[in-house]
Amino acid sequence: MSPQPAAGADGARRALLKLSGEALMGERRFGIDPEVARRIAGEAAEAHAEGTQVAIVVGGGNIFRGLAAASAGMDRSTADYMGMLATVMNGLALQDALEQAGAPTRVMSAIAMNEICEPYIRRRAIRHLEKRRVVILVAGTGNPYFTTDTAATLRAVEIGAQVILKATRVDGVYDADPEREPDARLYAQIGYTEVLADRLQALDATAVSLAMDNRMPIVVFNVTVDGNILRALRGETIGTLISEEVPA
Ligand code: GTP
Repeated sequence: MSPQPAAGADGARRALLKLSGEALMGERRFGIDPEVARRIAGEAAEAHAEGTQVAIVVGGGNIFRGLAAASAGMDRSTADYMGMLATVMNGLALQDALEQAGAPTRVMSAIAMNEICEPYIRRRAIRHLEKRRVVILVAGTGNPYFTTDTAATLRAVEIGAQVILKATRVDGVYDADPEREPDARLYAQIGYTEVLADRLQALDATAVSLAMDNRMPIVVFNVTVDGNILRALRGETIGTLISEEVPA
């Protein structure tokens, strides 16, 4: 299996961690489990202390799911804006947990809400990373119809991250839904085009094609396993690597 990409030109490893809102829920049906937030933040803070530059894009599905509300009849754009607001709450919870774990942070939002957090400015986000702050990026892309996976890919490309680390509830990308089909096969590595062509449910197609166009590798890994966030941020081989090359 191919390892994750090495550090960038300046020698610093810069990774974008994509956390779904559900990752913060733990065993709950709604909201944030403080114990889970503490564990996630502790691992991210440890990787940060080891020298990895960490940017985090967080989703909002533990508080409000835009797509579900739209399918229940709500206007899609309104529902998506509510989802974006949910990501801001999760971002602030993560900020609190990360700072309690000793990592300095900055929260940057794609939708201006200056009383609560900074506006997202690309060059400023990069500067924060260089100054050794964990940057938490909230409110998605600021636009309805785009998922937080797409926001994660866009931000990873913009800030020059070497990899997207997509935290999920399963071990990586499978050839079928592993929660429904026990025989589903886990890929160690898979090409972007294969993910798109086979409509594998790892990330949405917009996110995958944006990553493909910009040669941005994506590692899909299981966030429910203790230590996995740290392993992923350290660049250890874990989960499934989605990249250009497919093994011969
Ligand atoms: P450097 O100037 O690079 O050292 O970055 P800095 O973030 O420490 O500087 P700044 O003086 O801009 O920010 C100080 C604090 O104010 C930080 O905690 C920022 O997150 C926060 N801050 C900066 N801009 C805003 C904003 O527009 N809204 C809110 N709510 N906080 C902000």
